[in-house]
Amino acid sequence: MANKRQGNQTIITEFILLGFGNLPQLQTLLFLLFLVIYIVTMAGNIIIIALVVANQNLHTPMYFFLGNLSCLETCYTSTILPRMLASLRTGDRTISFGGCITQFYIFGSLLATECLFLSVMSYDRYLAICKPLHYAALMNGRFCLQLTACSWVSGFLAPLPTMLLMSQFTFCGPNELDHFFCDLSPVIKLLACGDTSRSEVFIVLISLIITVIPFLMVLVSYACILYTILKTTSSEGRHKAFSTCSSHLTVVILFYGSACAMYLRPKSSHIADVDRVVALFYTVVTPTLNPMIYSLRNQEVKAALRRLRGRKRFSNIQGWSWF
Ligand SMILES: *[C@@H]1O[C@H](CO)[C@@H](O)[C@H](O)[C@H]1NC(C)=O
Repeated sequence: MANKRQGNQTIITEFILLGFGNLPQLQTLLFLLFLVIYIVTMAGNIIIIALVVANQNLHTPMYFFLGNLSCLETCYTSTILPRMLASLRTGDRTISFGGCITQFYIFGSLLATECLFLSVMSYDRYLAICKPLHYAALMNGRFCLQLTACSWVSGFLAPLPTMLLMSQFTFCGPNELDHFFCDLSPVIKLLACGDTSRSEVFIVLISLIITVIPFLMVLVSYACILYTILKTTSSEGRHKAFSTCSSHLTVVILFYGSACAMYLRPKSSHIADVDRVVALFYTVVTPTLNPMIYSLRNQEVKAALRRLRGRKRFSNIQGWSWF
């Protein structure tokens, strides 16, 4: 690899992430905005983790998965936001070659793990709603642990083939990325030189496998859930079944909706500004909203929160229950 980067071309050791550099007058405002978002995201997700770990009532598969999802999201935002905040503050937009690749790998792994978690969680809801009598036996502690461990391990293995392919690219510049983090497609499209089309096909295939298969599992699970709910005659039973999966469904729609908005648009309509806003959605907004969606919609989480802090202080959350 070292040899390939030598030769006549300049060796690129640093990238420049333009980020929001086209809005110089807004740097302070953006800094404050993202700082607040970062604090809210970390606080929300850490509260969920603490609730799940500390509360015996929440020691069920659904909440273990939720706790793991929150854990993942604290890491996920932390791979992107702190660096972005620093660059908004200092104006220094450079990122080393190694830093860029590391950010890309960690972000990619967590993204793959998130896809797997969402599908595991929908399978859990499928078992709970469509096979209620066998749920406890099927989704036992051991199986739950296996699913969680498998998601983490496969998530971190998933981007390795892509990394291997990328290590064979030559990066000859320009070294400016019109994005706020080292995402895969801008890095390859703009910075790699030589013919990368064959590798690109492989990389797209790998990304599709990582995201589409879990997505299909989510669809199949929800098709079965919907079928069961429609078959239920009592409206109370229907309501109960729907309320246990509505939080998860909202999270799935947010996550896959923004991912589809990013990657399934025709190429000609890719405008850097729009891309940045859509990317902000799945990197920054979703992790912020997830704990709120779960804690506001969910009676058990609300009850745990109330127990944790005493009734009075959280009584104002009640006012939000229309959500
Ligand atoms: C993650 O999942 C495992 C196994 O299901 C569970 O033991 C652990 O408590 C979970 N972690 C959190 C933070 O919820």
